[in-house]
Amino acid sequence: MSVPTHGAFRAPFARALASARFSCRNRRVLASAWFAALAVNVAAPLSAAAKTPAPKPALDASAVAAPDSYSADTAQQIFAAGGNAVDAAVAMAFTLAVTRPDAGNLGGGGFMTLLVDGKPYFLDYRERAPQQATRDMYLDDKGNVAPGMSTVGHRAAAVPGTVDGMWEAQRRFGKLKWKQVLAPAIHYATDGFQVDPRLQQRRDAAAKSFAGKTNFDAYFANLKAGAMLRQPELAQTLGRIASDGGREFYEGRTAQMIAAQMYGHGLITSQDLSQYKALWREPLAADWHGYRVITAPPPSSGGLGLIQMLKMRADLQPAFDGLALNSAPYIHLIAQIEDRVFADRQRHIGDPDASPVPVAKLIDDAYLAQRAAEVKADEAPAGATVKPGVDGGAATEKAQTTHFSVVDKWGNAVSNTYTLNGDFGSGVVVDGGGFLLNDAMDDFVIKPAGAGATGAASTPGAADAEPDAIAPGRRPISSMTPTLLLKDGKIALAIGTPGGSRILTTIFQVMTNLYDFDMSPTDALAAMRFHHQLLPQKTIYFEPYRPAPDELATQLKALGFTVEQQSFNGDVQMIRVDGTTPEPASDPRGGGVARVIR
Ligand code: DON
Repeated sequence: MSVPTHGAFRAPFARALASARFSCRNRRVLASAWFAALAVNVAAPLSAAAKTPAPKPALDASAVAAPDSYSADTAQQIFAAGGNAVDAAVAMAFTLAVTRPDAGNLGGGGFMTLLVDGKPYFLDYRERAPQQATRDMYLDDKGNVAPGMSTVGHRAAAVPGTVDGMWEAQRRFGKLKWKQVLAPAIHYATDGFQVDPRLQQRRDAAAKSFAGKTNFDAYFANLKAGAMLRQPELAQTLGRIASDGGREFYEGRTAQMIAAQMYGHGLITSQDLSQYKALWREPLAADWHGYRVITAPPPSSGGLGLIQMLKMRADLQPAFDGLALNSAPYIHLIAQIEDRVFADRQRHIGDPDASPVPVAKLIDDAYLAQRAAEVKADEAPAGATVKPGVDGGAATEKAQTTHFSVVDKWGNAVSNTYTLNGDFGSGVVVDGGGFLLNDAMDDFVIKPAGAGATGAASTPGAADAEPDAIAPGRRPISSMTPTLLLKDGKIALAIGTPGGSRILTTIFQVMTNLYDFDMSPTDALAAMRFHHQLLPQKTIYFEPYRPAPDELATQLKALGFTVEQQSFNGDVQMIRVDGTTPEPASDPRGGGVARVIR
């Protein structure tokens, strides 16, 4: 795979500058973006572009754990220009919108958990339902779920949040100029990047479900392993955003393109776009093993679930004593904890601005101790006794989304997970804009059955109840769980992963490996992982990277479990900081890059 160097940036700059002489507006935009690219490349660290003087470094290096080499290179460029972790994160998000069109995005949404100057923050840039959305919009005339309607095509798309999220984060905390953080992405969109075979595999699979229903192939038929993919319309969109600011996407030419794409086919209007705002929320926080866990609040279910799992596991330490990691009795206990976590998720979690979520109660120590006390080493697995339930099966839940973690030498940290939901989202590309729209509407419950009951699933495994019903302006429930751990107020871990409802169970396992089993970051990621949630009952999922040995599968079956194989169990990108040196680690299951940057 070609890795652009500083030189690789300069040659295209000269070309872009030359073409700008033709004075068409788009070329001017590109050229002006390339001025910023040049600044990124040649600026001395802490150049005049920096908005504020940097404090004394707290760490001896910065670090990144990124899902591809291009986004890692971008972070390196940004640090070289004097940027901080927030600049790097925003630049990575825009880069991944180009180099990982399956999951990185402009047309999706996500969550960012930050530590800046010692203070934790959480940015919710989740998508919202358009104003024309209705509770029953994905049901047929008999009241049944209409297959595919919430996952493919214009009506699957919710109002995107990513660009406003990046704009908010960078304006509030970044040190570089906005144009500088867009420059690497513009470079990759203009000059292309070399396609990884995995990306082509995902394209080929997605293209089948979009065939004849969307304009996907008009833009991505030429996404072939080993070839350079150039995305000129996307480069122009990024150029407009670079020149005019993040609100261009919501109120400028790009907004007009989205509304035009939707007209007559989908629900998103100019008004939906102009009304979209990313929100700063109070992150969830809890004490665990001498660390402060900082994680995602609702509308994510992930942070709550993660804290619940960590605390119940700690409450049950006497039951775990002497059990080998991932032995059958160990998995049995964890599965019972997970039954309770997913029961609470289904009952209580939705958009907190639409219906209040009893967050404090759900992570209250006494409540969790009482829930943990229900877990018995000799209890037969029987999810049905744990109320209420979550519908569906994890095996079919989507495995697309992407995560990266960044720590800078000043001790700032960003953990960011964002998504189009399914691979390549709804499959709808905004004509002229060159970017895909999400299918996040599918994260709502499509057919709620009333509070406490189980609703019909559009995507099995992601069905929830009344708090997650579709309503105009509402944000759908999510499992995305970008998380930070602090020790004495300083960054100790930045972690996250894609994986739908497997996100929280994956992060839980890696944290347990690190802090209960004292593994190195590399070993903690390489260890076997499994997934279980309340429904389907009594089912334990393993994955190809570390399948269950026959003996373990036999023991689990003897305990009453069904053992299944699923295709995916995460792509964790994390950075541990122990003392003053960051240790980044990328999941061996994916194509990520872990890099210390000095
Ligand atoms: O927000 C969510 O939980 C889902 N839309 C995320 C989808 C996902 O992570 C799929 N997985 N890798």
